[in-house]
Amino acid sequence: MKSMDKIVSLCKRRGFLFQSSEIYGGVQGFWDYGPLGVELKRNVKDAWWHDMIAGHNELIAPASAPSTFEMVGLDCTIIMHPQVWKNSGHFDLFCDQMVDCRESKKRYRFDQVRGRYVQYEDQKVFVTTMAEQEEELSEVRRRGMKFFKLRPKDADKITIGDESLTLDKLDNTSDVLGPDAKALDTLTEPREFNLMFKTTLGALGGEEDVTFLRPETAQGIFVNFKNVVDSSRVKIPFGIGQVGKSFRNEITPRNFTFRSREFEQMEIEFFCHPDTSQEWYRYWRDRRLAWYTKLGLSSESLIMREHHVEELAHYSVGTADIEYAFPFLPEGEYGELEGIAHRGDFDLRSHMEGKLDPSTNPMTVELNENGKPKYRGSGKDLSYRDEVTNEKFIPHVVEPSAGADRGVLAFLCEAYTEDEAPDENGNLQTRTVMKLHPRLAPIKAAVFPLVKKDGMPEVAKEIYGELKEHFNVFYDEKGAVGRRYRRQDEAGTPYCITVDTDTLSDKTVTIRDRDTLEQTRVKIDDLVADLSSRISS
Ligand code: GAP
Repeated sequence: MKSMDKIVSLCKRRGFLFQSSEIYGGVQGFWDYGPLGVELKRNVKDAWWHDMIAGHNELIAPASAPSTFEMVGLDCTIIMHPQVWKNSGHFDLFCDQMVDCRESKKRYRFDQVRGRYVQYEDQKVFVTTMAEQEEELSEVRRRGMKFFKLRPKDADKITIGDESLTLDKLDNTSDVLGPDAKALDTLTEPREFNLMFKTTLGALGGEEDVTFLRPETAQGIFVNFKNVVDSSRVKIPFGIGQVGKSFRNEITPRNFTFRSREFEQMEIEFFCHPDTSQEWYRYWRDRRLAWYTKLGLSSESLIMREHHVEELAHYSVGTADIEYAFPFLPEGEYGELEGIAHRGDFDLRSHMEGKLDPSTNPMTVELNENGKPKYRGSGKDLSYRDEVTNEKFIPHVVEPSAGADRGVLAFLCEAYTEDEAPDENGNLQTRTVMKLHPRLAPIKAAVFPLVKKDGMPEVAKEIYGELKEHFNVFYDEKGAVGRRYRRQDEAGTPYCITVDTDTLSDKTVTIRDRDTLEQTRVKIDDLVADLSSRISS
C-alpha cells in the first residue's frame, strides 16, 4: 500500500530528501536533496530543459502546434530591482490574509481563488458569512466545484439549500468537509501578510534599499524580453525558459516538499501575436500534460483543471492547472503541479508603462495626488515590430509554470510500489521498488560481480569504469546478490548488470530489468548502446 508515511520514510532512509538543518531541529518549509534526490531532481530539470528548450527543433512545427517557433533560455538573478515587484503586482497583491481560531488555535488563510478561508491543516474550506444558501448551491453547480457553506454551530451538516449533498455526489471536488469542521465564530481579525522574503541591499539598509527574493522566476524573463529580442534572432512566436529558485514565505508550509518556502520553478514565457494567443494557450496546456505522462505519471492520477472564468486573474483569459492525486490528499482530490496561464500583455505592459492607465492596465493600483502612476514603469518600449507585416504590438504571453520540487514529489509518489519478487531460494517476498522512469532514475545501472572471487570483481570494475563515462552507475560487491538487487530497487535503479562465470569465457553479462525482473544476456561491448536505447525509449 502506498502511503505518504512510507514514501517520506524511504526518502530519508535512502537519501532522496532530508529536512533542512535537521541536526538543529529543522526549519519548516525547507528541504535538502540527498545523494539520490539531487540526481533525481537534476534529471527532472534536465528532461524539462531538453524537451522544452535545448532539444526543441524550431524548423519543424510539433504536432498540433499552430506554427514553427523558437525556444531559448535565460538564467536571471534571484534579487532584482525593487521596482520589478511593484509593477508585477507582487508588492501590493502577493499577500495571504491570515486568521486564527481562538478556540482551536488552527490557522486559516484566505484563498483568493476560492474566495473562502481555507484551513491550512487539510485545505478544508470554510465560509465566514451567512451567504444565501441558494446562491451557494448555484455556485456549486455552475463551477462544477463545491464550496460548502457551514452554518455556525451546525458545522457538520453538508446542506446547501434544501439539498443535502454528500461528497461522492459531487464531481470535481477540491475541498473536503471534515467531521471536525468548526464554525469560524471565534476568529481573530484578518491580518495581511506579504509572502515575499524581504532583504536589504548594501551595508546601510535604509527603506530605499529594501528588496525581495524573487517569488517566481517569470519576472526575470519579462524584464529581459527586449534584451533577448535585440541580442538573438528570435521572431515571434517564441518562448523563453528559465529554471531556478523561488522563495515564498508560506504561512504554513506543509505536505513534505509540496508547499515549501524555498523551491525551484521551471517556467516558460511564450510570446505570441494576440490573435493566435488562444491557440497557443491550448497547445501548451496539452503539451505540458503529455510531458508528465511521458515521464511516467499515470493519466488516471492527473487532471487538467480549467479555471472558471470567475477564478481567473482579471488580466487572464484562460488558466488551467495540471493537478496530481498526491497520496497526502483525500481520495478524489488533486494538488497543483503546474499552472498554464494566458497572461495577455499584462506583464510587458506593466514593466513598460507602470500602473498608468486603468483602461489599458487594469492592474492600476493607485494613482498619486497628481494622477500619475503609483509606480513608474521602466519607460522602455517593450513592444515588438513584425518585420514582415511591419505591425507593432505588445505580445501576448502564455505561461506554463511548473514546480521542479512538486514534479519530483509527484514522480516519487507515483514510483513507490510494493510488489512481490522471488528471493534467492525462489520464495516470493514483498519488495519495495521505486519504478522511476529510466530517464529520471538517479542511478541508471548498478554493476555487480556475482561473487567476490575468480576475477569477477576485476571485470565488473572495468565495466563500471567504462559505463561511468556515459551514465551515473553504481558498483556493489557486498552481500548476497539478491540483497544488492533489493537495494537498487529501492533506489529506483532500472538495470542491474551482473558479471558471472559465463562472463569470463564469453564476455557477456546479464541485465536485470527492475520492473519486469527479466534477465537478458548482452555482450560487454554492446552495453553502452544497449543501456542508451533502454533509457531513452
Ligand atoms: N509565474 C507564475 C507562478 O509562479 P504559481 O502557480 O504561483 O505561478 C507555479 O507557481 C508553480 O510553482 C506551481 O504550480 C507549483 O508547482 C510551484 N510552486 C508554487 N508555490 C510553491 C511552493 N510554496 N512550494 C513548492 N512549489 C511551489
